[in-house]
Amino acid sequence: MLSKKQTDILHWPYTGRTALICDGAVRSGKTSIMSLSFILWAMGNFNNCNFGLSGKTVGSAERNIIQPLLSITYLRQNFNMVYSRSTHQLIVSRGKKQNRFYVFGGKDESSYMLIQGITLAGVLLDEVALMPRSFVEQALARCSVSNAKFWFNCNPDVPEHWFNKEWILHAADKDATHLHFTMEDNPSLSKETIDRYKSLYTGVFYQRYILGLWVAGDGVIYDMFSRDVNVYTDEQRPQGLPYLAVRHISCDYGTANPQVYLDIYDDGERVWVDREYRWDSRKERRQKTDSEYADELQTFMGADPQFLCPVIVDPSAASFILELQRRGVYVTQGDNNVPDGIRRVAQLFSRRVLMIHDTCEGLIGELGSYVWDDKAAKMGVEKPVKTMDHGPDALRYYVNTALPKWRYGEENVI
Ligand SMILES: Nc1ncnc2c1ncn2[C@@H]1O[C@H](COP(=O)(O)OP(=O)(O)OP(=O)(O)O)[C@@H](O)[C@H]1O
Ligand SMILES: [Mg+2]
Repeated sequence: MLSKKQTDILHWPYTGRTALICDGAVRSGKTSIMSLSFILWAMGNFNNCNFGLSGKTVGSAERNIIQPLLSITYLRQNFNMVYSRSTHQLIVSRGKKQNRFYVFGGKDESSYMLIQGITLAGVLLDEVALMPRSFVEQALARCSVSNAKFWFNCNPDVPEHWFNKEWILHAADKDATHLHFTMEDNPSLSKETIDRYKSLYTGVFYQRYILGLWVAGDGVIYDMFSRDVNVYTDEQRPQGLPYLAVRHISCDYGTANPQVYLDIYDDGERVWVDREYRWDSRKERRQKTDSEYADELQTFMGADPQFLCPVIVDPSAASFILELQRRGVYVTQGDNNVPDGIRRVAQLFSRRVLMIHDTCEGLIGELGSYVWDDKAAKMGVEKPVKTMDHGPDALRYYVNTALPKWRYGEENVI
């Protein structure tokens, strides 16, 4: 069963328009039906042609487009589909007709080389707002076969984002159809599931991922963080915490900037940030060496073999990572995806499952002054102001790297 908007996607090729843009809420049924319609259009109108299927990375395109396509019974019954993981090509044929679909990743270097030399009859760009503009322009420029069409979908970003300004706000000038999706446009979601997704987001995240609006964050990023409910005292600390929880230490590295370690416990239900180490070399007027920092990390961790744990480190701190590894410390490089990390930390705070001990004063202070960069937003880029972000960075690395997706309600989201 399809919703009205999804049917519009299937009928869209007959409108004669050049481009289709579907934007809006998460899980709203954009990617799945767009991919299906794209294949049916390509197979119905072309033979021996090349097409582009692109995600943010090749991996995400395989996950979000290729795998779901290969599992659609209707396609399997009517077409012969073969995907090669080594060449990243999907070959779809029916009788004597055959077309080739190349999988690209907007953020993958190798995709740039590949797309430059190819002639396409159409391209589907999944999550287009996450791709570099140069890649998108290159992909469109390769569509030189007559009657080629451009298929775009994305979740919203800041209003000044180039894709919003040039494509969505000027859809008519570009001969494009714009369809806006909400979760109600996905008939497979029950009311309970929609309500659960709605409860995961607040503020700017709610406006973007639930309402599907292009809005900029304003002021404090974690405005859902509250001293009353996200901060705990010794008395409120669960008994036996270190024994019944998985421990990590997360580290933001700084030579001129502060060095921060957070001692974090996950009891399976809530995450407890229990202690903080901080050395601000500017304030103290003395820089420490990697070796001194490593000594202090080992002291911070303690020597009890029962409580030794993985250390998540700022991925850019190559020399410090080496120093820790040399000492036999188990190091995991932090995942530094900023928008994902911020969205996830925000979800954990608003669900009251991320708790901070009241002695972590540096982190608590920085959470209050961690703000969106409104100048960057005006240039179409969403990011935090890069000062006093050391504790929040360490927290982000932890959430992105150590927690499974279901903990922040995202098992299927992106
Ligand atoms: N009409 C439908 N019938 C059955 N399942 C559907 C239908 N439409 C969508 N789905 C399923 O709902 C889920 C979400 O759909 P899809 O991935 O297309 O959403 P999306 O809008 O691209 O989400 P996101 O913005 O998070 O990428 C997928 O598992 C998809 O297979
Ligand atoms: Mg999608």
